[in-house]
Amino acid sequence: MSMHNIGIIIILNILVTAGLADELPDLGVPVDAETLAAIDFTVLPNGDGLPDGSGTAAGGAAIYQLHCLACHGEGGIGSVNDSLVGGHDSLATQRPQKTVGSYWPYATTIFDYVRRAMPLQAPGALSNDEIYAVTAYLLFLNGIVGEDKEINSRTLPLVEMPNRDGFVWVY
Ligand code: HEC
Repeated sequence: MSMHNIGIIIILNILVTAGLADELPDLGVPVDAETLAAIDFTVLPNGDGLPDGSGTAAGGAAIYQLHCLACHGEGGIGSVNDSLVGGHDSLATQRPQKTVGSYWPYATTIFDYVRRAMPLQAPGALSNDEIYAVTAYLLFLNGIVGEDKEINSRTLPLVEMPNRDGFVWVY
C-alpha cells in the first residue's frame, strides 16, 4: 500500500471516529457512464486523442455565426468575451494581445478546448465534424490555414502555430 493510500485511510478514519462523516454535506450524484463518456477525452498537443471527422473554414463560418458570434464577435475579434483572432506580433510589445492565433502553441488545443468548454452555455452540443470546422475557421481567420483546407485528426497536428516556439522550459 502506498503512503498516499495510507494517508487517505487515516483521514477517513479520523472523520468517522470523530463522528463528522454524517455531517458532511450530501452534495453531488454518481456520474453515469453516458455522462462520463461525453467528457472523458483528452487531445494531446501531438494530436493523440483526436476523433474521426473533418471540416473546413468554409463550413465552419456558419457554425461560428450560430454558436460563437454572440460572445466572440464578428470575425472573432472579440465582443462580450475574448477575442480569438489577431494580436499577431504583439506579444513582445508593451500591449501583448494573447489570442488563440497569436499565443497558443498547438492547434490541437483548439479542438480540445472547444469540445470541452464551448459554446459556454452548452458544451458538448457540437458534433466532432462541427468542431473541426469551427477550429478550421478560427485558424483561417488568423491567417494560418486556407479557407478550403481540410482539418482532421491527421492535418490538425501538422498546423504550425505562429507562437509555437515562443515558450521556454523553466527548470
Ligand atoms: C455565452 C458566451 C460564449 C459563447 C456562445 C462561446 N464562448 Fe468561447 N468563451 C467564452 C468565455 C467567457 C471564454 C473565457 C473562458 C475562460 O477564460 O475561462 C471563452 C473562451 C473561448 C476560447 C479560449 C480563448 C482564449 O484565448 O483563452 C475559445 C477558443 C473559444 N471560447 C471558442 C469558442 C467557440 C468556437 C464558440 C462557438 C462554438 C464559443 N467559444 C462560444 C464565452 C462564450
